Amino acid sequence: MVKLSPSVLSADFAHLGNNCCEVLDAGADMIHFDVMDGHFVDNLSFGLPVLQGLHKALPNAYMDVHLMITNPLKYVKEFVDAGANCITFHIECSDSIRATSAAIRAYGCAAGLAINPDTPAECVFPYLDGLSIVLVMGVTPGHGGQAFNPVALDKLRKLRAECNRRGLSPYLSVDGGVKAATTGPQCVEAGATLLVAGSAVFGAEDKVAAVQSFKNL
Ligand code: DX5
Ligand code: ZN
Repeated sequence: MVKLSPSVLSADFAHLGNNCCEVLDAGADMIHFDVMDGHFVDNLSFGLPVLQGLHKALPNAYMDVHLMITNPLKYVKEFVDAGANCITFHIECSDSIRATSAAIRAYGCAAGLAINPDTPAECVFPYLDGLSIVLVMGVTPGHGGQAFNPVALDKLRKLRAECNRRGLSPYLSVDGGVKAATTGPQCVEAGATLLVAGSAVFGAEDKVAAVQSFKNL
């Protein structure tokens, strides 16, 4: 069954813990935590103290951290200490991909590698060994609520084929513009096994129904 990681970027920050409890109780598999540095992307979000607080409030929640930052390597240990269970960083960042991936694993955390819409799927192939997640962006990162770019579907198919060929089974994840009625099923058909959704879950009038609509895919 496909897994769901709701992105707190679209949560009500005055009630962050309660919002997360609600979607986890409804069946969400983890919490997607989007960190932006105002440099790698043109926006700022939240960082270590917020993750620490959320982890303290919800110690059993699996925290899926997505670093949209230029220098992820520098912050790996701090995010692990703050409660990250997996850390996904971008192939377009300025640090060594192998060193960053190895550092994440060395701290006992699962490693994920993300690619922006302009980056071909093949760029990930040399790094696939050792990755727990490959994250295909459905939007240019930086903001929630953008329209899905279908280029992600072709990349998911290429990654699915390459993983199958090599006997690898990382989660194939997609983030940005994922909706339960439209783009979500297309992504699953293309090979996605982990859907990230922000506005479609935390922005929904009925968050419980929104989670269930994804879990039924
Ligand atoms: C985009 C973030 C996403 C974002 C998704 O920069 O990485 O996780 O919150 O939001 P939606 O699902 O609204 O496109
Ligand atoms: Zn994200």
